[in-house]
Amino acid sequence: MWRNRRDSYGLVSIGFHWAIALAMLGLVGLGVWMVGLTYYDPWFNRSLALHKAFGILVLVLAAAKFGWLIVNPGPSFGPEVKPYERIGATAMHWLLNAFIVLLPATGYLISTSEGAGIDVFGLFEVPALFDMSEGTRDLAIKLHFYLAYGLIALVALHAGAALKHHLVDRGSTLRRMLIPRSTSRGADRSA
Ligand code: HEM
Ligand code: HEM
Repeated sequence: MWRNRRDSYGLVSIGFHWAIALAMLGLVGLGVWMVGLTYYDPWFNRSLALHKAFGILVLVLAAAKFGWLIVNPGPSFGPEVKPYERIGATAMHWLLNAFIVLLPATGYLISTSEGAGIDVFGLFEVPALFDMSEGTRDLAIKLHFYLAYGLIALVALHAGAALKHHLVDRGSTLRRMLIPRSTSRGADRSA
């Protein structure tokens, strides 16, 4: 139930997937909204503080998720999954995992570029570690922006593939990312 098996995801991996997915998509929405606010808006400071704290939370969840994947690898592909689907799904998962780290990392660089640490829900502070030039800060802002919009495109493909596999191919890929030990029809995965 908790652990991944050869043909199904366990509760822990499912929990990590949906918590990180929800947080990342929410942060894109919050990010786009907050950069449109003016200084006089009551949410001007609060929205950025929330964005930073939830962004750091994603990084903490990601570290825990990667640790869990090392001790408890995810299910494998079944023989019925076509080679191009395996390559596409594997590449997509690597890319999404890279975005899960790079988005908060570039956000961290922007927010600590003037030497201040990041307050996380008043619980602890992440210190500023690097001395940064104006040029590096500008680069981090650009990267953060392009990564956030790139994420939307990747997630559209990723979720589209999962839905196609569920509705058209009638595979168990989506079901097994929703329910642990669902009645999977073998070890297929192609989202
Ligand atoms: C809202 C739409 C989403 C749907 C419907 C969805 C669906 C799925 C499904 C069905 C799988 C299992 C694929 C398999 O077994 O091969 C999966 C895996 C995965 N998804 Fe998503 N996903 C969504 C959003 C996201 C987001 C926003 C991220 C990250 C930013 C993400 C990252 C991943 C990763 C890294 C995996 C590989 C397994 C793991 O390491 O947890 N997904 N997704
Ligand atoms: C974890 C996933 C994250 C996502 C998906 C995300 C997404 C976004 C988006 C969509 C924007 C608006 C970009 C624009 O239209 O200009 C933004 C801006 C920003 N984000 Fe994030 N963010 C994340 C994490 C973080 C973290 C961890 C921090 C800092 C600790 C951070 C700090 C910022 C800052 C300072 C801005 C404003 C940049 C500017 O002045 O243009 N973000 N973010």
